Amino acid sequence: MASLSPEQIKQLVDQSHQAKEKAYCPYSKFRVGAALITEDGHVITGCNVENACYNLGICAERNAMAKAVSEGHKSFKAIAVASDMADQFITPCGGCRQFMREFGCNWDVYMTKADRTYDKMTVEALLPVSFGPDALGQTASK
Ligand code: THU
Repeated sequence: MASLSPEQIKQLVDQSHQAKEKAYCPYSKFRVGAALITEDGHVITGCNVENACYNLGICAERNAMAKAVSEGHKSFKAIAVASDMADQFITPCGGCRQFMREFGCNWDVYMTKADRTYDKMTVEALLPVSFGPDALGQTASK
């Protein structure tokens, strides 16, 4: 997997912060944006979308991945995630880590702060020893 250039990283981080502007989060007031770049260079963004039935809300990362898949993209290079937190890098929730893992362990997650500085980790590092698609079909026959 070819890594992103510094310019591409800056752009992806900027796009995640732009996506955050669209967040629909009247309940938590916690805005999140995500920008996902595919192996062939397409960028798909997402934001969190909450609901009056609280448990139906969707995170920005999962929204971006679902949008990408629905548009025919399943090979991802990286995702950048943005929130308004000044002092902490936004880290994906466990559900989003599992959702990322569905599309491979060897791609990058850029977790940013409001000032657009970032920390980078792979999906593998965020969700070690994970359960994934390979496991299905590996069950012993009875
Ligand atoms: N949220 C995300 O969209 N992504 C994350 O990485 C963490 C949390 C959303 C879910 C909910 O709408 C709000 O942030 C507060 O949890």
